[in-house]
Amino acid sequence: MKGIVLAGGSGSRLHPVTFAVSKQLVPVYNKPMIYYSLSVLMLAGITDILIITTPGDKPAFQRLLGDGSWLGIRLEYAEQPEPNGLAEAFIIGEQHVGQDSVALILGDNIFHGPGFSRLLQSKTDDLKGCLLFAYPVGDPNRYGIGEFDDDGNLLSIEEKPEHPRSNRAITGLYFYDNDVVGIAKGLEPSPRGELEITDVNQAYLDRGRAKVVDLGRGFAWLDTGTHQSLLDAGQYVQMLEERQGVRIGCLEEVAFRMGFIDSDQCYRLGERVAKSGYGKYVMEIARAKADLTTA
Ligand code: G1P
Repeated sequence: MKGIVLAGGSGSRLHPVTFAVSKQLVPVYNKPMIYYSLSVLMLAGITDILIITTPGDKPAFQRLLGDGSWLGIRLEYAEQPEPNGLAEAFIIGEQHVGQDSVALILGDNIFHGPGFSRLLQSKTDDLKGCLLFAYPVGDPNRYGIGEFDDDGNLLSIEEKPEHPRSNRAITGLYFYDNDVVGIAKGLEPSPRGELEITDVNQAYLDRGRAKVVDLGRGFAWLDTGTHQSLLDAGQYVQMLEERQGVRIGCLEEVAFRMGFIDSDQCYRLGERVAKSGYGKYVMEIARAKADLTTA
């Protein structure tokens, strides 16, 4: 399965913060926002990932993440010159997807919860149709919202409905089989002028090939779209990291735990940023595992 992180857009709801910096590069507590979404794809076991940005922001992402080899993965970059909608990712990324299935994640979404890596890995093999991830929200008119029958089957999806039929948002993580490229190419722009991801999902639904996994209430799906929600997300990360002494969205740790890099490589990545608590943490987890294996 291939991966795409969509990190375009003007971030207008975060102005003036995002006048000069891409939204997906602003910090969520102690790391750039894109670390969180990229780590989700890595936790799914995906190592071939396309990052789509605006043309102006691309060099900054490349400076931050390079070709991915330091994490034992492959990163490529592509541009979305205009905010033509999320579904355009599959047209821009057609070559990258090739004959494979693909996971799309929105670069401003943060997911955190128990067993997430195992859940994702169990869904990547032999994917047929599309798989969506739903999450209960208190403000359903801000999202794509699913309607379900009594057996939990998805009946419809509505984008930012005025009168929501449920409180279950379709989150910004989507798994698709290879049909998605053709479906995206056949879409017409919506009234707001965008190729809508909800229309892609509706096309799968119409073919009876859309499934939904519920991320329960013990799970965190966080929004970073406004100043307040960005601050809330940062505080959530800070609170859990300090309480548990672990890191959320730490790319070096994920690469190490997924077996993409070994403990020596991980240690050296920590050394690079040794002056921050972040680097010390990376060095510690590399050393702890090395001690365990030599003990
Ligand atoms: C987009 C999608 C929406 C989804 C949301 C998740 O909305 O259109 O269906 O629920 O992402 O973050 P946007 O954030 O672009 O308004």
